[in-house]
Amino acid sequence: MKVLVIGGGGREHALVWALRKSARVTEVVCAPGNGGIAAQARCVPVDGADLAALIAVVEKERPELTVVGPEVPLSLGIVDELQRRGFRVFGPTQAAARLESSKAFAKEFMQRHGIPTAAHAVCTSLEQVREELKRFGPAVVVKADGLAAGKGVVICESHAQAVEAAEEMFSGALLGAVQGELVLEEFLEGEELSFFALCDGKHAVAMAAAQDHKRVGEGDTGPNTGGMGAYSTDALMTPAMRKWLTKKVAQKVVDGMRAEGVPFAGILFCGMMMSPAGPMVLEFNTRFGDPETQAMMMRMETDVLDLFDAAVDGTAETLSVILGEGASVCVIAASGGYPGKYPSGKVITGLEAAGSSADGFVFHSGTALKDGELVTAGGRVLGVTAMSAEGLEAALTKAYAMLAKISFEGMQYRRDIGWRALGKASLEIVKE
Ligand code: AMP
Ligand code: GLY
Repeated sequence: MKVLVIGGGGREHALVWALRKSARVTEVVCAPGNGGIAAQARCVPVDGADLAALIAVVEKERPELTVVGPEVPLSLGIVDELQRRGFRVFGPTQAAARLESSKAFAKEFMQRHGIPTAAHAVCTSLEQVREELKRFGPAVVVKADGLAAGKGVVICESHAQAVEAAEEMFSGALLGAVQGELVLEEFLEGEELSFFALCDGKHAVAMAAAQDHKRVGEGDTGPNTGGMGAYSTDALMTPAMRKWLTKKVAQKVVDGMRAEGVPFAGILFCGMMMSPAGPMVLEFNTRFGDPETQAMMMRMETDVLDLFDAAVDGTAETLSVILGEGASVCVIAASGGYPGKYPSGKVITGLEAAGSSADGFVFHSGTALKDGELVTAGGRVLGVTAMSAEGLEAALTKAYAMLAKISFEGMQYRRDIGWRALGKASLEIVKE
């Protein structure tokens, strides 16, 4: 089968890598891809935010399956457009992707369907923000309504701070994505967990759990990023919790969306807070996570084409998703300055020395080939990924040993990925 993957980050590299392992896949094309994906798939240059251009690529390539990686084309309605033209495509429709593209929609949906989440209020004016705040404790979270690449969320310790954040959002000073609405939310304490379910419009099947590290600095300090590293182990989620999250969150979403006439198919990424009052949904994403996917794909023993086919064909309930034992981890190497301004075009060395195997691979997030050399071309540059049947510590040792061989000017990475799970002080792991 010829498969086309849309996107050009580390997540898409991991999807291409996993697809290449499938005996049923004969050709993989990626649009636009990147410097690393080019070694495993034919890359077709295209602007990932240009819907018409993306459709033209699919029309020309005529793949038997298209897999959409990022949220932007989903929110633009690429799935609707491709389905209308008769193509098989993995991902939710534009209306179903609102679970991610509109926080207000997602919150109201959860309320309508009894899905556990923090108390909230949707506000369209500063006056309303001031009025609604009276119902909240001092710690509140202010969220911009649209897609904001992880940067539309401000955690406030006081109402005064919340008003200030709301003011900046409404004025457009904080970020461009506000659509005249914001969400106030009760602040929740606890550990975060990313739970992934495969959905086919009728059924939700648990895939895996992972934990991301969103802050740029060690010990979870500094500004938020797209994700600086992730790990996946069975220990993250007991079998009982897996069942609970599947039934009380993912299946409820699928049932609710179907009842509202907007069936949900694709990946439902549930960003959970394991709060003292029980697991609560912080947010939904309607796609794979990055860098969670790099870690998850390395553990995936089920043929990923079977996963995509089941979601497209409505047969997810017959699937069994099998993950390799032990743990996997992805550590991101980022450009100096990220998540702020950073340079591009820095030569990357050491990838060959780092090696590649079934349980150790460097996925490329932001790289390009320039005059035959591999150079940096993004904030997040590489996702050094490893797994071990022996568990997290062994997987981390492997990933950091690979990373030690790689360099580019300004390279930064967190040395404490997975430290919380190990129950150790972060810096000990690294010093080795
Ligand atoms: P979101 O984009 O909604 O997932 O928010 C981004 C990050 O902000 C989350 O991963 C959490 O770390 C934090 N966050 C969001 N909502 C809350 C909340 N209600 N309580 C505490 N932290 C939150
Ligand atoms: N790693 C978080 C995300 O993909 O949104």
